[in-house]
Amino acid sequence: MLAGASVTDLIDKRYSCRTYADTPIAAETQRTLETFLAAHNTGPFGSTVRLALIAATEADRLALKGLGTYGFIRNPMGFIIGAMEETPERNLEDFGWILEQIVLYATGLGLGTVWLGGTFTKSRFAQLMDLHASEQVPAVIATGYPADEKHALDLFIRRRAKGDHRLPWAQLFYEAPTDENKKDAFHKPLLEDRAGRYAEVLEMVRQAPSASNKQPWRVVRDRECWHLYLQRTRGYAPRNALLGVADMQRIDMGIAMCHWELTAEELGLGGRWEQADPSFETPNDLTSYVVSWVPGEAKGQL
Ligand SMILES: Cc1cc2nc3c(=O)[nH]c(=O)nc-3n(C[C@H](O)[C@H](O)[C@H](O)COP(=O)(O)O)c2cc1C
Repeated sequence: MLAGASVTDLIDKRYSCRTYADTPIAAETQRTLETFLAAHNTGPFGSTVRLALIAATEADRLALKGLGTYGFIRNPMGFIIGAMEETPERNLEDFGWILEQIVLYATGLGLGTVWLGGTFTKSRFAQLMDLHASEQVPAVIATGYPADEKHALDLFIRRRAKGDHRLPWAQLFYEAPTDENKKDAFHKPLLEDRAGRYAEVLEMVRQAPSASNKQPWRVVRDRECWHLYLQRTRGYAPRNALLGVADMQRIDMGIAMCHWELTAEELGLGGRWEQADPSFETPNDLTSYVVSWVPGEAKGQL
């Protein structure tokens, strides 16, 4: 449960909201969200994010245009900004995890959200955060009340509509051979009815937002363990680096981990994140191991 709502309902309900009503976020909702930000700023790999909710001024809205984000965001009422140290390993995965938990919480408060990846580190958003030299602002969340009534559909329709814009299970989830064969881990698609109680967890990963909807998450089931991989989109990270944009696909992996962990927790599927690379042969040099979910005792930080 988050904000008194079920996590799977919140994941179903969330979508990238790009048009907001001309209504400021209620003062009490702002306070509730700020209290949540203050208490939820650490990711599973242990890095922390400095978070702030700011009311959007016209200057902030205009500034967005020059920052390499895509899509036209109409009338955002606020921004959730996160500043984090540049160096710790897996910091961007933590950033994705922390901010996505906030996105889901905001969804429960009736707010629309959209992730924005851009060159924020030298922008007015960074100034608002008094950014230190060693910090970056990898992405920002725009928020406000959704203007668009057509999204107020029931959850079933929403899930199906989102599903239409996602890769099929067969391209995302795999089942490793049960012998010691390290070669064929990405050959056999994992069928939904073979995933058992984890089918819902995997589906919640599939519903996750990702930069340019590239859906770079891949999962290999290896008996009891679940290994998460990043399948990079060719040319995407170097192009973003050239533009000064953070590595969005690592943020996407953190978002997927957040959906995984919160859903598993809600379903009572105990487990924890571990670095346990099974050394499987990957489909190509754009695929890399990230982390494993090991069922069993409760979670803890890595
Ligand atoms: C890290 C990240 C960066 C994103 N950057 C932008 C952006 O700059 N502009 C935008 O309109 N949407 C952006 N998005 C939203 C994605 O385009 C969206 O999540 C994806 O198309 C799936 O649609 P949905 O969120 O409605 O399910 C971003 C999403 C993520 C996770």
